[in-house]
Amino acid sequence: MSTDVVLASRDEGILTLTINRPEKLNALNAEVLETLRHHLHEAKRDPETGAVLLTGAGEKAFVAGADIAGFAGMTPSAARELARRGQSVLDLLENLGKPSIAAVNGFALGGGCELAMACSIRIASTKARFGQPEVNLGLIPGYAGTQRLARLVGKGRALEIILTGDPVPAEEAHRIGLVNRVTEPDKLMDECRALARKILSKAPLAVKYALEAVNIGIEMPFDQAENLEATLFGLSAATADMQEGVRAFLEKRPPQFKGN
Ligand code: COA
Repeated sequence: MSTDVVLASRDEGILTLTINRPEKLNALNAEVLETLRHHLHEAKRDPETGAVLLTGAGEKAFVAGADIAGFAGMTPSAARELARRGQSVLDLLENLGKPSIAAVNGFALGGGCELAMACSIRIASTKARFGQPEVNLGLIPGYAGTQRLARLVGKGRALEIILTGDPVPAEEAHRIGLVNRVTEPDKLMDECRALARKILSKAPLAVKYALEAVNIGIEMPFDQAENLEATLFGLSAATADMQEGVRAFLEKRPPQFKGN
């Protein structure tokens, strides 16, 4: 009987997806990628899921990259297809319309670093190590690492990480903005869940529009992004939750958001 390569469990509206190939440091093979795609499609559609938390099984790794075993003898067109497939899963994650948090418990290399970067927020354990070591294999990042890393940490730092392939310790990743926070390993999951719960207590449509304004707007010319922001601001003003939020403030009580 084969084990699940991605473990899925939901609690309090938080779907936790655990990449589960610890003996291969959770490397992303085709089965892992397609199983992730399946769970993410479900998460996007399912109103019971408000946030997604991603982590890796075992003590050592979040995800140590795409599965290198599949690289030998790969044709150029198969390699391009592999990159496009990985990119599409990560794009789905980034554009879920719901917040996602990477709980980076160990190595986040290559595709693992790229997977973490596609999440809305990253929290790393002190044991985490980030990196894009593809140059060591004669490759370049292929799951949008060249793009998301440069957007997150700036072009100069991104190029240093990509051109050297050197691992980046958690504290350094925090210093350069690659991760939002660093925490002790035994507190990692609790911190991630607490953060997810906090976001889940906000108006869900406002969270969805904010994600859209940042994720889509950052790729647009500034004036068009401002226009998108104003349109989404208008949409959020049309929600019952906005009426409730404003009323609750004026009545000095906590809001009761309903997601409409
Ligand atoms: N793809 C496939 N298998 C991988 C892998 C990957 N990206 N990363 C690790 N593994 C496998 C190893 O081959 C090994 O399998 P084995 O026990 O059957 O030989 C197992 O996971 C454990 O890894 P190991 O290298 O023995 O652990 P380590 O603690 O000595 O080193 C790393 C850890 C992360 C430094 C090292 O595994 C590594 O460099 N991995 C590749 C990282 C990479 O280049 N990622 C980008 C790919 S594009």
